[in-house]
Amino acid sequence: MSSRKRSPHDFIFKEELGHGSYSTVYKAIDKRNTKRIFAIKVCSKAHIIKESKVKYVTIEKNTLNLLAKAHHPGIVKLYYTFHDEENLYYVLDYLPGGELLSLLHKMKTFSEVWSKHFTVQLVDTLEFIHSQGVIHRDLKPENVLLDRDGKLMITDFGAAYTTTAGNNDANKSSSSFVGTAEYVSPELLLHNQCSFSSDVWALGCMIFQFVTGSPPFRGENELKTFEKIVALDYPWSSTNIHNNKFLNNINPLIINLVRKILVLEPKDRLSLKKIKQDPWFATVNWNDRNTIWKGIWQ
Ligand code: ADE
Repeated sequence: MSSRKRSPHDFIFKEELGHGSYSTVYKAIDKRNTKRIFAIKVCSKAHIIKESKVKYVTIEKNTLNLLAKAHHPGIVKLYYTFHDEENLYYVLDYLPGGELLSLLHKMKTFSEVWSKHFTVQLVDTLEFIHSQGVIHRDLKPENVLLDRDGKLMITDFGAAYTTTAGNNDANKSSSSFVGTAEYVSPELLLHNQCSFSSDVWALGCMIFQFVTGSPPFRGENELKTFEKIVALDYPWSSTNIHNNKFLNNINPLIINLVRKILVLEPKDRLSLKKIKQDPWFATVNWNDRNTIWKGIWQ
């Protein structure tokens, strides 16, 4: 393959796969090798400038470039970037299974086996992302994509924060609200602070959502959602759990794990290391990457 910079003319753009606040993702076929399918994220330059999002697109490109070097199976790979007069283009892995959120909506809830399978892959990927000094800051089921066989990949690093080498206080960044209301951590809402454990908070929200079908904190509007988060007002909190009629068919190990993750004080929240030792994962061999990264359907 020539190393000439690629351009939008090298691809046949097909249907839209999804869109975010300042970008749209399309399925695209490589004209040089029509068997090669990509997902191309197109960001309008005018829109980015008008909405002051220049910082975010730069972060996304730099973070994906940094993470792509290690070839972790749980991170969407960035292959090329280019631009024309109108747009910026990111050529990414195409994941035929689409968003985890769409699958959850279809299934209503995930079985315990599926919930564990997805959680294990998320924990393994998050641990890797954090080891590279990156906080994702917008983890949610829309930003988790599925391969053909049910393996997952985390995408959308537009809100990520990269801690700089040598900065010891790097795990406490001062941030303004970037993520999505339902998954945002209490420390961000209360103290404008974000750390690696803010991603763990979002993971806890996702585990709850896998087994119940809805995120733990959801109000009629963003403000009400925020109020619930800072009051830790969700169905499994110590004040609410006794009135909760919907616990019967959920493994208490899952409830206990979520309750140890959804803790207001970040330093008292379970770390990823501790999560891996949780009894719910007693059967998981975290060192066996082949079992962690096998699919669940064909
Ligand atoms: N939707 C958003 N990004 C996608 C991707 N990379 N592959 C498939 N669907 C997507």
